[in-house]
Amino acid sequence: MTALPESGRAWFLVARPHGWPEPGDVALRDVPVTEPGEGRILVRNLHFSVDPYMRGRMNDVKSYVPPYQLDKPMDGAAVGEVIASRAEGFAVGDHVVHGLGWREYAEFPAEHGTKVDASLAPLSAYLGVLGATGLTAYAGLFETASFKEGDAVFVSGAAGAVGSEAGQLARIKGASRVIGSAGSDEKVRLLTEEYGFDAAFNYKKGPVRDQLKAAAPDGIDVYFDNVGGDHLEAALSTLNPHGRVTLC
Ligand SMILES: NC(=O)c1ccc[n+]([C@@H]2O[C@H](COP(=O)([O-])OP(=O)(O)OC[C@H]3O[C@@H](n4cnc5c(N)ncnc54)[C@H](OP(=O)(O)O)[C@@H]3O)[C@@H](O)[C@H]2O)c1
Repeated sequence: MTALPESGRAWFLVARPHGWPEPGDVALRDVPVTEPGEGRILVRNLHFSVDPYMRGRMNDVKSYVPPYQLDKPMDGAAVGEVIASRAEGFAVGDHVVHGLGWREYAEFPAEHGTKVDASLAPLSAYLGVLGATGLTAYAGLFETASFKEGDAVFVSGAAGAVGSEAGQLARIKGASRVIGSAGSDEKVRLLTEEYGFDAAFNYKKGPVRDQLKAAAPDGIDVYFDNVGGDHLEAALSTLNPHGRVTLC
């Protein structure tokens, strides 16, 4: 077995930001690398996910995930390569998705990792379309909203990580019409010219209600809500009988 590194770098939260995080709120520090214990694996991380929810975890408040601790490494989704294993079913060279990002090396119980196949998709895709964002879009559309072929679908935050996937899934699964809203003309162009949306509008250019009515003359059957507010109100007033709404 090749020798394991003695140490690796990890990002620590060293101060709680107020407003925008500052470089001084985090510090890159060396930490010892330990050999995996029984049933555990050591992974060299290759990709980290940087997600909006992480800013919330920098605050010391109760939420659906515990806050980051001061002077401890941060965590988050990551994908890496197993470099040492004492767990059945995990071999050196396997790739895994797991929850100990923000560090070069992660050592953890093997059941906390999910093996992924680097030959099927780029490894970073397992943090996006084949990871939490894809699952959110998929479950929100097909489970929560019970999408069926022929539905007209409206997606807000449509150029974002989740919205762009929800719209594309609706398109390839036979929606009668897919409409998206976004906050710039460039994003609107992306939606219609590259992501396959039938119509899109810039919500900063006029009332959402008017723009949605123009884009969906026959109403909508599904609203995939990423933003709430005026978008939700406009969608409710445009919803056909038996319409469904996913509040993401
Ligand atoms: N990413 C995940 O894995 C995940 C998992 C579960 C739930 N979610 C939820 O899914 C939703 C979308 O998240 P995301 O990861 O796709 O984020 P994202 O890529 O940052 O997209 C969100 C988009 O919402 C738009 N937006 C922000 N404020 C707005 C406002 N006041 N009115 C209208 N649009 C606004 C922005 O686009 P414009 O520039 O077009 O305004 C922004 O890019 C969030 O509610 C998030 O909590 C995400």
